[in-house]
Amino acid sequence: MRTPRIDTLMAPNLNVKKTTKAPLSTSAARPEQGPLAKGGCRRIDILTLFPGYFEGPFAVSMVKRATAKKAVDLRLHDLRKYTTDKRHTADDVLYGGGAGMVMKPEPLVKALSAIRRGRKKVKTLLMSPQGRRFNHAMAMDLSREKSLLLVCGHYEGVDERAMKWIDGEVSLGDYVLTGGEPAAAVIVDALVRFLPGVVGDRQSVEKDSFFNGLLDYPHYTRPRSFKGMKVPEVLLSGNHAQIERWRKKESLKNTLAKRPDLLGGVALSEGDLELLREAREELEQKKKL
Ligand SMILES: C[S@@+](CC[C@H](N)C(=O)[O-])C[C@H]1O[C@@H](n2cnc3c(N)ncnc32)[C@H](O)[C@@H]1O
Repeated sequence: MRTPRIDTLMAPNLNVKKTTKAPLSTSAARPEQGPLAKGGCRRIDILTLFPGYFEGPFAVSMVKRATAKKAVDLRLHDLRKYTTDKRHTADDVLYGGGAGMVMKPEPLVKALSAIRRGRKKVKTLLMSPQGRRFNHAMAMDLSREKSLLLVCGHYEGVDERAMKWIDGEVSLGDYVLTGGEPAAAVIVDALVRFLPGVVGDRQSVEKDSFFNGLLDYPHYTRPRSFKGMKVPEVLLSGNHAQIERWRKKESLKNTLAKRPDLLGGVALSEGDLELLREAREELEQKKKL
């Protein structure tokens, strides 16, 4: 069946790794992150009780572009179409009693089997608050899968016996959503950015936060002066080496100020460590003002 495609500010003992390798640069992603996937995830199926939920998020911006360019084959499947009764019942009461309903195993397993039929490897993931927390590294890993099937739960979740047909669980964070649809939409959005041809300039993806293990540097556009605040002089200088140095330091500064925990996971060269020292001093100066 085919349905619509459609902190601590200044951590005193920062555990930063020192490296003799080339200094951090926007193109020097950590080895475990690897370069952007060449082929990337090509097909994503979503099984949901609410296909209409995706009409908004998938009809705009990068996801729209990705589907229009056929960089990804995105398919929505309505779970109710796999039910057998007149009322298309997909949920039932809990054995053992208690409030809420549970997603029945029969339509779920029937749908999973139908969607995967004749296909070799379809990584099937249940959206769940009990799953592994979704992050940049997972987004990159998943973007390398040839096909993904994202299953959106609802009510109290799915009948535990259906888990035999599921490869893993993914969580957006430690909170409970009403359904898995927002999680699936977030995952699709994060993945399509890694697909070739979706984001116009690949470098802009590689410069984003987390790609090289750090947060992005601050950005400015016209006008040069806005309500008395000026664009940093160096950005107007035309000196590319100076601009690159400033950006690297600001990236380190942002990370130090907002996510110092990330610094423990990046390999920094002598040059980067010098920039980090400067960044720390500048943050301390700012605090004193
Ligand atoms: C109301 S929740 C069920 C929560 C479940 N009773 C529990 O406490 O683990 C309904 C569905 O929303 C989705 N969901 C809820 N929170 C989520 C999260 N943090 N990440 C991903 N999916 C989530 C799952 O698909 C889940 O089956």
